[in-house]
Amino acid sequence: MQEIKKYVEENKERFLEELFQLLRFPSVSADPKYKNDVLQTADFVAQKLKDAGADKVEVCATAGYPIVYGEKIIDASLPTVLIYGHYDVQPPDPLELWKTPPFEPTVRDGKIYARGACDDKGQFYMHVKAFELMMQTNTLACNVKFMIEGEEEVGSSNLSTFVKENKERLAADVVLISDTSMISMENPSIETGLRGLAYMEVEVVGPNRDLHSGVYGGAVANPATILCKMIASLHDENNHITIPGFYDKVAELTQAQRDALNSAPFDLEEYKKDLDIAEEWGEKGYSTLERTGTRPTLEVNGIWSGYIGEGAKTVLPSKANAKISMRLVPDQRWSEISDLFTKHFESIAPKGVKVTVTPHHGGEPVVTPTDGTAYLAAEKAIQESFGKKPIPTRGGGSIPIVALFEDVLGIKTVLFGFGLDSDALHSPNEKYDIYNYYKGIETLPLFHKYFAELSK
Ligand code: BES
Ligand code: MN
Ligand code: MN
Repeated sequence: MQEIKKYVEENKERFLEELFQLLRFPSVSADPKYKNDVLQTADFVAQKLKDAGADKVEVCATAGYPIVYGEKIIDASLPTVLIYGHYDVQPPDPLELWKTPPFEPTVRDGKIYARGACDDKGQFYMHVKAFELMMQTNTLACNVKFMIEGEEEVGSSNLSTFVKENKERLAADVVLISDTSMISMENPSIETGLRGLAYMEVEVVGPNRDLHSGVYGGAVANPATILCKMIASLHDENNHITIPGFYDKVAELTQAQRDALNSAPFDLEEYKKDLDIAEEWGEKGYSTLERTGTRPTLEVNGIWSGYIGEGAKTVLPSKANAKISMRLVPDQRWSEISDLFTKHFESIAPKGVKVTVTPHHGGEPVVTPTDGTAYLAAEKAIQESFGKKPIPTRGGGSIPIVALFEDVLGIKTVLFGFGLDSDALHSPNEKYDIYNYYKGIETLPLFHKYFAELSK
């Protein structure tokens, strides 16, 4: 531990400067206008892996953005850790709400503000620097493989092909991912589950053109009104989702499991204060932690129709649209849920409108083990680095590829995240504490050390 701390101390400034360089690339995968920037980011990551000492570094082309691969195999008899992360980021919009520009990392109050600071550049880059540290101090205890992709924020659709076609190259004993949150630095925790996702787009079309709302209003179905009614009907008075069959495969937790999850430190008053809301909301019969960690949900992500420019325009819109996503839990399957949603949404449309449902991407939910060698190694690493045993939690977010690693490669994952829910992922002013960044770099080598020891 002393040696680790010493190396981090001596290289602190450079570690930070390199992360800043990485954060300056606007690698937004969702928007084609950033295509060149995303490609350049992949090259930068590849160069940094090489500099850190990785072999066989390759920017692997896919039908979309490339996957950066690199490895260091020191001894075939040692366990192998496959490190996954993503170099793409969410769009920075709405830009006007950023205090400083999203792709000009700025430090305020010990925190790095930039799009991708936490999700996931700041977090995956800790692994690159921890790897450098282990190489330079001759302490690499496991074989390592890096797979850093550029399409996580848009559903990782090409990564699944890559994984299926590269089973041998990716063979490993564990997948290690830093792309999740901890409760706090005082209450270190490890997420042991991620929700799945089924993302849909819907369109409600009424008359064949926008109409004068006085001439036609009252006699023709207004698609905006109809869409709102249809969406509102998807939850009942207890905030249960009304899609028939939606809950059929939801695995209920035992009372002991629920008690364990609810015993994690959580301050509802703080939560409400942070979000500036008077009251929490959600499915009747479940706590806030259960609602985000163990229950499926349905959310409107975007909704638009009619005139939204300056001033007023009296118009009855021809169509209305929404993007709707559902978070899934074991043992729901995203393609089944997509089908159930589509069938139901079409069935509740009144005759006066036409409804189209288009499924986007999706992903399966996962629960990761808390009794395997890898989890124990993570637990020991945190115990040593934080002086506290981590609390197992369930995360509300999704990393669709985790289920795929299990299905295709047969490898379980440890979600070794160092972010905080308050880091404003996907929001304006995303941040990552410099403290967490260095803490991660210090803790990760301990994982490798204990994973090698416990695997003997
Ligand atoms: N890193 C997040 C997922 C996450 C965040 C998990 C916090 C747990 C805690 C990831 O980059 C992400 O945003 N995933 C998307 C899914 C994807 C298919 C767009 C999500 O959860 O919305
Ligand atoms: Mn992420
Ligand atoms: Mn994300």
